[in-house]
Amino acid sequence: MSGKVRKRNITKHEQQTNGNEKANLKSRSVSRGSHGILIILFMMVAITWGIAASAYFGLVDYKALIVHGTSVSTSDIMQYTSALYPSQYEALRHPVRSLGEALIYFDDLIFSLFVKKEKTSYIDKRRVVVFNFPLEKHVNSIKDSSQLYEKTSANAVSNDDSAKDSGFSKDHTNDKKISGEPTNHVDGEASTKEEQPQVAESKMKPTQEKNKKKSSQAKTSSSSLKAKSGSSNQLSLEQNKTLLKQLQEGDELLKKKKVNEALSVFEKIISSNPSSPSAIFGKAEALNQKSLQQRSNKILIESLKFYDQVINLPNCPKKLKKKAGLIKAERHIFLGQLKEAVITLKKMAETFPRDTDILNQLGVSYLYVGNTEKAQKVYAKVLSIDPDNGFAQVHFGFILKTAGDWIKGAYYLKLGIESMAEGTQEGKFYFHLGDALHRTNRSTEADEIYKLGAKNGLFKSKYQRSLYNVNRLQSHPFWTPAEAKVNNYVKTLESKWKMIRDEALNVMDVEKGLFIPEEESLKDTGDWKQLTLYARGQPQKDCKRLPKTCALVSKMPNAHGCTRGQIKFSIMMPGTHVWPHTGPTNCRLRMHLGLVIPKTGQGAWLRCADQNRTWEEGKVLIFDDSFEHEVWQNAESFRLILIVDVWHPDITEHEKKTLSPI
Ligand code: LMR
Ligand code: MN
Repeated sequence: MSGKVRKRNITKHEQQTNGNEKANLKSRSVSRGSHGILIILFMMVAITWGIAASAYFGLVDYKALIVHGTSVSTSDIMQYTSALYPSQYEALRHPVRSLGEALIYFDDLIFSLFVKKEKTSYIDKRRVVVFNFPLEKHVNSIKDSSQLYEKTSANAVSNDDSAKDSGFSKDHTNDKKISGEPTNHVDGEASTKEEQPQVAESKMKPTQEKNKKKSSQAKTSSSSLKAKSGSSNQLSLEQNKTLLKQLQEGDELLKKKKVNEALSVFEKIISSNPSSPSAIFGKAEALNQKSLQQRSNKILIESLKFYDQVINLPNCPKKLKKKAGLIKAERHIFLGQLKEAVITLKKMAETFPRDTDILNQLGVSYLYVGNTEKAQKVYAKVLSIDPDNGFAQVHFGFILKTAGDWIKGAYYLKLGIESMAEGTQEGKFYFHLGDALHRTNRSTEADEIYKLGAKNGLFKSKYQRSLYNVNRLQSHPFWTPAEAKVNNYVKTLESKWKMIRDEALNVMDVEKGLFIPEEESLKDTGDWKQLTLYARGQPQKDCKRLPKTCALVSKMPNAHGCTRGQIKFSIMMPGTHVWPHTGPTNCRLRMHLGLVIPKTGQGAWLRCADQNRTWEEGKVLIFDDSFEHEVWQNAESFRLILIVDVWHPDITEHEKKTLSPI
């Protein structure tokens, strides 16, 4: 069958299937009542996760997410889905590095939902929020606690240099789905009208000087219990002095992490001064610290009650109120209670409508619940108040860019990055700025940004922009089988290539809709679809449709067991151009087995870093996809390859077992 004929078949089949899937979904939901709703929700979770994860990691086994979901209510699923899948906020696309034990700490329910396969991704996503939150003490406490988890965990990620060294401060920004993701609107404020300021670009002065502006975010150091008790006005001078002394004592104990003693001190103060904001705040802080020491959600949740009390005290000094509100919101996020975080920050924003620290965090919380629209409005407001606010600029730019507005996105991302303000020097912002510049014919500037990102340690090099790296690994764009230590695999694949090709072609013809369009917005033009057999070391459901190929790769432990890669077929139609992009990790090498390689027209080829290559039928081509690569398909019929990721040859057996899956 000719390529052209086959092309028409695929398109037709896939169109039909899409239609059928929609119809099925609809009919199921009607016929099965609440059970149907649950199924749909689960599917939404799965699809949503699939989109998000595939956007970043390539296709993954998102079905795993729903396996443990049966005991969970629909609203829980919606809520956790919004946490799990924070739409367009890439900070969440971090590598997994924590484990089941840690997850229990965060939330038993989530544990039961996701612990089996997706546990680590999930916890990570909320941790990232914590790390993005510029509250020093809490960042530190959580860093401490995460170390603790890692020590106690049998599968701790110990060799992922990126995850370990840079924590979450660097972000991974590649393979990003850009827009159109479903979101959960959990801010519970349909009736509340928000101010919708417009930010005129003319208002946005380019920040020339690197002002190294520090966020004026409230510091959460326990030593900052400076706000005097509001009730002290009614006290005698002597009582005031005693109160202050006691507060300082509690503060000192907190600094020394003597939480129980601090707790008794604050409780003692409260017993005689029940509405002392500082004492109640101290108690909240002590409980918060205790929760971290004991890894107890229960205690953490209890602490939230007291932060809330502080916020609601009529005599609470504003500074303390702001501090308590910001911590409370951040703790909610830590717990995965994103809706509560939004509510808290919204309330804070009502009290402090022009406080850019609060608004910036409100924007972050909106992004985490997937409410990009609201986040955008909030950042627009911040920028109308403070046009040079770098934090708001990068986030505003990020939102615009990921929504497809590359020109404006680049404009704000650039301003924000140049501001050097806290929270702006992250890989994801550099990445998206470079990408936006490149996509708008400003490649020279994109190149400069990538170079700067490399210079600032956000990327390994201007071409190698993966974030989840083991630093010692040797790297270069193209590899020989001997260099990659995959001689045997290559031999097997090359000797069985026709069998693999025929199995894939058979599925393309007979099984409809198995190939899924690339959904990561990597495609500039054309038609590009994939069928995944293995992802993150797990066989995918479609494996059974291609038993011979799956049996073959199942004998290749460095391939099917590569938890940082995938095995998938990739079909590309003529007229396709894939934007330059970068994979998430340097821990894998990517083999491409040529199956159907058209030579007509201008052919099809791949650029990796500064070298172009093309495929040959029955031959394996190996490259390191952590280097920028780009694909053109300008032939006259389709191109089909099998992509097999393998562990980088320098990765140790221990690392293979312990590196967090991507
Ligand atoms: C890639 O690995 O990004 C592409 O080369 C895939 C493809 O189908 O060419
Ligand atoms: Mn790629």
